[in-house]
Amino acid sequence: MRISVIGCGYLGAVHAACMAELGHDVVGLDVDSAKIEKLARGVAPFHEEGLPELLERHVCKGLRFTTDPAEIADAQIHFIGVGTPQRQGHIAADMSYVDAAIATIIEHARTDDGPVLVAGKSTVPVGTAQRLSERLAGSGKQLLLAWNPEFLREGHAVADTLTPDRIVYGLPDDHDVGHVAKALLDECYAKPLAAGTPLIVANYPTAELVKVAANSFLATKISFINAMAELCDATGGDVTRLAEAIGHDDRIGSKFLQAGIGFGGGCLPKDIRAFMARAGELGVDQALTFLREVDAINLRRRDAAVELAEQAVQGRLVGKKVAVLGITFKPDTDDLRDSPALDIATRLWARGAELSIVDPAAGPELRRRRPDLSVPDTVDEAARGADVVMLLTPWREFLELDPAALITKVNTPNIIDGRNVLDPQRWAEAGWNYVGMGRRVSTW
Ligand code: UGA
Repeated sequence: MRISVIGCGYLGAVHAACMAELGHDVVGLDVDSAKIEKLARGVAPFHEEGLPELLERHVCKGLRFTTDPAEIADAQIHFIGVGTPQRQGHIAADMSYVDAAIATIIEHARTDDGPVLVAGKSTVPVGTAQRLSERLAGSGKQLLLAWNPEFLREGHAVADTLTPDRIVYGLPDDHDVGHVAKALLDECYAKPLAAGTPLIVANYPTAELVKVAANSFLATKISFINAMAELCDATGGDVTRLAEAIGHDDRIGSKFLQAGIGFGGGCLPKDIRAFMARAGELGVDQALTFLREVDAINLRRRDAAVELAEQAVQGRLVGKKVAVLGITFKPDTDDLRDSPALDIATRLWARGAELSIVDPAAGPELRRRRPDLSVPDTVDEAARGADVVMLLTPWREFLELDPAALITKVNTPNIIDGRNVLDPQRWAEAGWNYVGMGRRVSTW
């Protein structure tokens, strides 16, 4: 099929490349000329496993990238993959990029040969699809709308797109129109559907809600275990054992029960806030007041990490050297959006700590943004002379560190395990003062 993808960020660029991998003829459109210039050369503008290979395979064949909206004209499906960030000074989502994408499609899409589908992938406040479909209906062109939320995780985005665990279509109430939209999406996703991917067909609001409900559930699960970490800290318990034990119950499951410095990134934090804002507009704010608590628990984790660093140096961070291992919001990405690690590091710096930050992917970007910070290439360099080492993003190479070797580099052997991923016993035996989040070194 001929496909356009509007917005070539973490979502859109991966979606465009994966659609080409599924055999479609794809054009990706973005207003950011630097990003498009890289993509058009087959270079990934951000760190995402598998994306460079897909770009190399398809750019100049079934995959093009452009800043010229006229080039999307012939697509049979226009996917909207632009961002919906938190609005400045507000908890609601900024919808200006989605609205601009719709305007671009209305202006440039060619519908002389029959109906053309607009498929929304961005995370939007419930009610958006209905509003946009009315705009499309009034455009004078045969433009149909479906909402087709995306569930990809950064770091696994290519695999999540090519072999998703489910596909959701939000279709218009008019069944005849809905069938045309469904047939186009079925053709587009023929491969994953033939492979048995579950398909859920629903109306617009359900499809929009599925996305924010999923992210809210994940955020709630993380904040739940972080609340248990607070209880463990108050009582001497170990939250990692607690999570392991409750996770064996199939109804609970062990995933997303990793306590630590909490969730961040471009999705979970802003999605739960935008969901609360929308519930307020709909007059059902009480249904989501628990998300305020989820957000508050999450933000308290950052305070807790700063306090642990302070305690490790007897309350005075001024002039103390803190080595920060990991600055992205999670491993396998270079994304710094709402990163708990970056927030904690910035607060330590504001309290007078001397920071040395190492990250396998975000080092160059961090040096560009913060030339005043020391951002060495290796853990050894970062740890040299440190009074506290803080592991804040669980990159694999940090999990494999040898505590006996690292201790020879530091000034004082304080290790704060912000993600509860190190073996406390092993680090303690090597001579470190190990501090986890809701977890202490115990004989059991
Ligand atoms: C999230 C969802 O997982 C995706 O399904 C969704 O498509 C995406 O948002 C989106 O809306 O686009 P992502 O932002 O890539 O994906 O990150 P997650 O893997 O969900 O992790 C979010 C944060 O939670 C990270 O900071 C991670 O370190 C933290 N986390 C995760 C924990 O603190 N504990 C856990 O047990 C799991």
